[in-house]
Amino acid sequence: MMTALEQAPQVNAMRAKAPAAWNPRLVVFACNWCSYAGADTAGVSRIQYQPHFRIIRVMCSGRIQPDFVLRAFEKGADGVLLSGCHIGDCHYVFGNHRALEQFEKIKSVLRLLGLEEARLRLEWISAAEGPRFAQVIDEFTEQVRRLGPSPVAGKPRTTSLQP
Ligand code: FES
Repeated sequence: MMTALEQAPQVNAMRAKAPAAWNPRLVVFACNWCSYAGADTAGVSRIQYQPHFRIIRVMCSGRIQPDFVLRAFEKGADGVLLSGCHIGDCHYVFGNHRALEQFEKIKSVLRLLGLEEARLRLEWISAAEGPRFAQVIDEFTEQVRRLGPSPVAGKPRTTSLQP
């Protein structure tokens, strides 16, 4: 049986050969009243979940413009999650319906850019659904990890939806 001291060079050699694990960079747009509060609930509840995301708070999911998402991809995101209140719970009544329309529009732009639609996701998460927020992040992280790095990350955009 080898001592820990004898094993150390072998362990170091194995570590040197092992490919570095790649973690996708995710951007999460979350509405202030539901999904952002859901993220807070996950944190307060000390739920463990994948940490490879940055969250951007918007007052309502209806505020998320296609240009926000394209800019996130342009700046290096490998996946973008849009999240808001459940249908019927939007504090601005129709905001999440608007988000759904924008989501479909953005998906068609991603197709034009040659990006996989699976890099974009829309979820309704309430303030009380901390565990669900964590589950969505874990699932989306794995989904994007399987796709690999975004081919457009860091490349200047040639498409704009600005009026
Ligand atoms: S306020 Fe949350 S989706 Fe509109």
